[in-house]
Amino acid sequence: MDRTLIICKPDAVQRGLVGEILGRFERKGLTLAAAELRVLDEEILADHYAEHQGKPFYPDLVAFMSRGPVLAAVVGGVPDTWRVVREMMGTTDPLAAAPGTIRGDLGWQFTENLIHGSDSAESAEREIAIFFPGLSRG
Ligand code: RTP
Ligand code: MG
Repeated sequence: MDRTLIICKPDAVQRGLVGEILGRFERKGLTLAAAELRVLDEEILADHYAEHQGKPFYPDLVAFMSRGPVLAAVVGGVPDTWRVVREMMGTTDPLAAAPGTIRGDLGWQFTENLIHGSDSAESAEREIAIFFPGLSRG
């Protein structure tokens, strides 16, 4: 299934950039399959960011990601949606992200990099099941 999970992170919600970010994906031709504004707790973040547990930056990452609501969404409709989203996000460090990308255009702080996107088709299905279990069964 060509769909992926995106999360507009707490900085994006606080700065009023959700519309800008979702609008970029919509203008590209991606369609929304699900969306929810919610505050993430440590439990769901431990599952979502399982690959980063134990790394030095993990406590800061959890503190940041749980400090306010996020907009979690499933988008799809184009071939290799996860890859299209990752290209449009830009690289992890917003200072290094290319102009024209979400991170490159809208931010500069390392942890507060506005947007999450699944990093493979397998990650996309795993993460959609965490955030939207009803969708992944459908
Ligand atoms: P994301 O998972 O949030 O979409 O970001 P990403 O794939 O571009 O980066 P990833 O390596 O998965 O890291 C997840 C998030 O952890 C923070 N981070 N901090 N201080 C550090 O060395 C460091 N490395 C990663 C970032 O907020 C990154 O988005
Ligand atoms: Mg990642």
